[in-house]
Amino acid sequence: MKIALGADHGGFHLKNRIREVLESLGHEVKDFGCNDTASVDYPDYAEKVARGVSEGTFDRGILICGTGIGMSISANKFPHVRAALCHNIFTARLSREHNDANILTMGERVIGSGLALEMAKVWVETEFEGGRHARRVGKICDFERE
Ligand code: RB5
Repeated sequence: MKIALGADHGGFHLKNRIREVLESLGHEVKDFGCNDTASVDYPDYAEKVARGVSEGTFDRGILICGTGIGMSISANKFPHVRAALCHNIFTARLSREHNDANILTMGERVIGSGLALEMAKVWVETEFEGGRHARRVGKICDFERE
């Protein structure tokens, strides 16, 4: 799977650990930065990842900031993006099964790294259930045509 990865300074360390885990699972990962802990603006990194997912260059994206909130708000401005801010295994799994989320956002200052790494793994490995959920996701997609 082609996965785009991005973070601001608040998510820098977790982003790097997620890259290692995804690569060890055999995924093709593009790391859009940031590349150190110097203060940056999270929308700049959300844009790189969300635009790539929106345009189909990447299958999925993962964005990390301090809370995950700024990244999710920013990423959801892009067409075809369904970014889900998740805090545990349950929400990470359900964001795939029910919402077909194509971007996962997490907060490095909110959840522990062990949990976050497991969430990333579960999230990339979980399929969309379709069925009644496809109808609902279709209604979300309809909003983009209004
Ligand atoms: C940066 O200090 C912080 O605001 C950012 O990482 C994120 O939490 C925004 O939503």
